[in-house]
Amino acid sequence: MIPIRRGMRRPVRRSAGIPARNAGDPPTPPGTPLRPTGSPSRTGETVPVEDAPSNPVVRNDAHDRVVTEVLAARHFRHLSPDLVARVTTIEAPKVRRHDEAVARVKRKLHQIANAYTPALHAPRDAADALRSAAGDEDALRTLAISLMYGHASTAERLPVHDLIAPRLREAIHGTSGSDGPINPGERVEAETPARILDLACGLNPLMIPWLGLPRTCRYDAYDADSRLVSIVQAFLEAWGQAGSATVRDIGGQDTTETADVVLLLKAVPCLEQVRVGTSRRILETLNANRVIVTYPVQSLGGNDRGMRATYRQAFDNLVAGLPWHVAELRLPDELGYLLTRKAPPAPVSQ
Ligand SMILES: C[S@@+](CC[C@H](N)C(=O)[O-])C[C@H]1O[C@@H](n2cnc3c(N)ncnc32)[C@H](O)[C@@H]1O
Repeated sequence: MIPIRRGMRRPVRRSAGIPARNAGDPPTPPGTPLRPTGSPSRTGETVPVEDAPSNPVVRNDAHDRVVTEVLAARHFRHLSPDLVARVTTIEAPKVRRHDEAVARVKRKLHQIANAYTPALHAPRDAADALRSAAGDEDALRTLAISLMYGHASTAERLPVHDLIAPRLREAIHGTSGSDGPINPGERVEAETPARILDLACGLNPLMIPWLGLPRTCRYDAYDADSRLVSIVQAFLEAWGQAGSATVRDIGGQDTTETADVVLLLKAVPCLEQVRVGTSRRILETLNANRVIVTYPVQSLGGNDRGMRATYRQAFDNLVAGLPWHVAELRLPDELGYLLTRKAPPAPVSQ
């Protein structure tokens, strides 16, 4: 086992957040409404939320005070400022008072992010341990397994790791893993991806040693939690995998990057909890050949509660009318689908 050591800390790459109030800004008058008022923001624009095509952030002084207070809190300061700002735009107008808005935003952020990481301890030490093990494949595999217990979504896969890893590997390479031919009536050749995007990745990129990817395959991972991103970045470097991990709110700006395979694992329910329709928009705007979408079949508390049937219906609605062939994946303890584009775009050139 690799000893966990302190030192060699690196700053995590963060996407730009909204600026905090400047010391010289006038204080917010008591009773300033939390609803977007149409008054100009710092950029001089106010965008109505519901009419907009994606998820713009509507800013005013009251909004910024909520964001600043949430990001100052110990349990929330590791989250993407863009995500906090977007959730505030949606949640704060539903209540009248500042303290109610702060509580409401925190509750939502807990549901979609913090609820998955109660077992995540000492993320900086984890990143340091990974860097210390750089180049030692056996040590990195051992570390990856132990670190994946730190996120509820990857921890759930560990009891079935030997079953799920080959299925994910097959789906990523476009060979099988499904209950039928990927495109009905067509034979599909194995295709090693040149670029993978892992959206709302959690600690899933620590599965890379079991996915049969060449080190030259670019693996780019996004999550709203900077602690997870720092661990994933350290792992990618230590394993020698091309690609990077970045703090990003994937429900904010459209993801228009080109990739061979996109992973959207257990992330749809989180995205839809903030704003219904976000996942469909991601599927509409992605420039990818294949997408793997999965859903949990148990709640975080371990209850079944008919989730498989509920999410099967949700998935059918999600892809209805979109240009993807759909095949169900045989994944243990997870509802999974492989989407292949009906008319694929040109392959990625590196
Ligand atoms: C259910 S977990 C899934 C993690 C991983 N995909 C897996 O299956 O192991 C959801 C993850 O999404 C992240 N998340 C939630 N909303 C997000 C957003 N809008 N942008 C980026 N990440 C988000 C959370 O931090 C959390 O790690």
